[in-house]
Amino acid sequence: MSGILISGGVVVTSEGPKEMDLLLEDGTIKIPNSKFQIPNSSGVINATGHLIYPGLIDCHVHFREPGATHKATMATEALAARSGGVTTVCEMPNTTPPTTTIEAFADKVERAEAVEDCDIRFFFGATEQGHIDQLRLLWTEPDYEHLRSRCSGVKVFFDHSTGNQKIESALLDELFAMCGELSIPIVGHCEDPEINAAASANVDVMVSPTNQHSQMRPPEAEAKAIAHAITLSREHGAAFHVAHMSTAEGVQLVADAKAEGLPITCEVAPHHLLLTVDHYEHMGTLVKMNPPLREERHLDALWAAVEDGIVDCIATDHAPHTIEEKAQQPPLSSPSGVPGVETMLPLLLTAAAADPGFYQRILDLCFTNPNRIFNLGKEGIEEGSSADIVIVNPAEEWEIHGSELHSKCGWTPYEGAKVKGRVKHVLRACEDYTLKTLA
Ligand code: DOR
Ligand code: ZN
Repeated sequence: MSGILISGGVVVTSEGPKEMDLLLEDGTIKIPNSKFQIPNSSGVINATGHLIYPGLIDCHVHFREPGATHKATMATEALAARSGGVTTVCEMPNTTPPTTTIEAFADKVERAEAVEDCDIRFFFGATEQGHIDQLRLLWTEPDYEHLRSRCSGVKVFFDHSTGNQKIESALLDELFAMCGELSIPIVGHCEDPEINAAASANVDVMVSPTNQHSQMRPPEAEAKAIAHAITLSREHGAAFHVAHMSTAEGVQLVADAKAEGLPITCEVAPHHLLLTVDHYEHMGTLVKMNPPLREERHLDALWAAVEDGIVDCIATDHAPHTIEEKAQQPPLSSPSGVPGVETMLPLLLTAAAADPGFYQRILDLCFTNPNRIFNLGKEGIEEGSSADIVIVNPAEEWEIHGSELHSKCGWTPYEGAKVKGRVKHVLRACEDYTLKTLA
């Protein structure tokens, strides 16, 4: 008999933690009964004291391919994802060329199919009328069924960010109407361009320090864009997901929309939960991102919303840039974005070590909810399923160092952070659960 037996671990399931052995064979999971004899020829992983999750989902990453492969490639970032227990990602359209045509989308799907470590899905982008027309075709043409199965929805930028993909605002109405009609999930980068422009008007970017970045993209900009999106969602019945929500005002708007029964969901990035504007002092442009770092009160509101279920997903906005690009002068010209896909799970396990109920919440935030919102079709850990398997040691303490992570960018905003909880094994169903050394 071949296969791998994982014995003695605790599986985190949607019904709660369950002690059970798992036999992985022919790409599927079998749950042996108590009389089960360990076959001699099986590989055995002793998971005593370990937690087992299905391969996690990060529904917001930038893998830079094609167009900026000096920063990252699908292959390098897929390995980073896997090393962090993430085996499914949804990748954003601000590449070069942008993913705003069926041709560009098909090219990305073909590249992703050659990548082993991670299941890469893609958001379509839309900044002008032609892109909306292409998305309709992708979603309705029978010939595009395969491509459609790799598409997690459409991404809209309400204001420019890396890649300058701000949508023409006159098109928002039509886009929401089409997505309501065809049930296409919309994910939005919510920052109002007028508020950001007004807040930036008197800033001299040649001389201002990095912390000015947070004032140039203030909390009101996020609130106004979210409110706008909620209005459009109400009008057109379109499901809308707020990307990387960073403010207390955003939390309130999403909570109210949910109470009203609207199809509004949201994600928060680890950096907005863990870092404040005070981090500019030591980290400078390394912690420049959009939306920017906020003050303490926002972090408190975001954590409360993570705990009470207003926040649906944790997603990293993994946005690798080279260290040389981040060091560019003047500071406000440095590109926005931080890597994060490999550190998300260790950071969340660290939070759970202080509040053990949170181990269960990680499953909702990084698997169940993104899987449902973006129709990813992933299976949980159960008899006969083909879930990827992530085994973590919740007690192992270690320090994060960029030089030991796998992203091509080679750095992390959490350099030197002490964490508790480490990914030990990641087994992918599509590889028939072959054990692969990740380091
Ligand atoms: O900080 C960010 N970086 N925010 C974005 O919206 C885009 C991302 C990137 O692609 O670098
Ligand atoms: Zn992003």
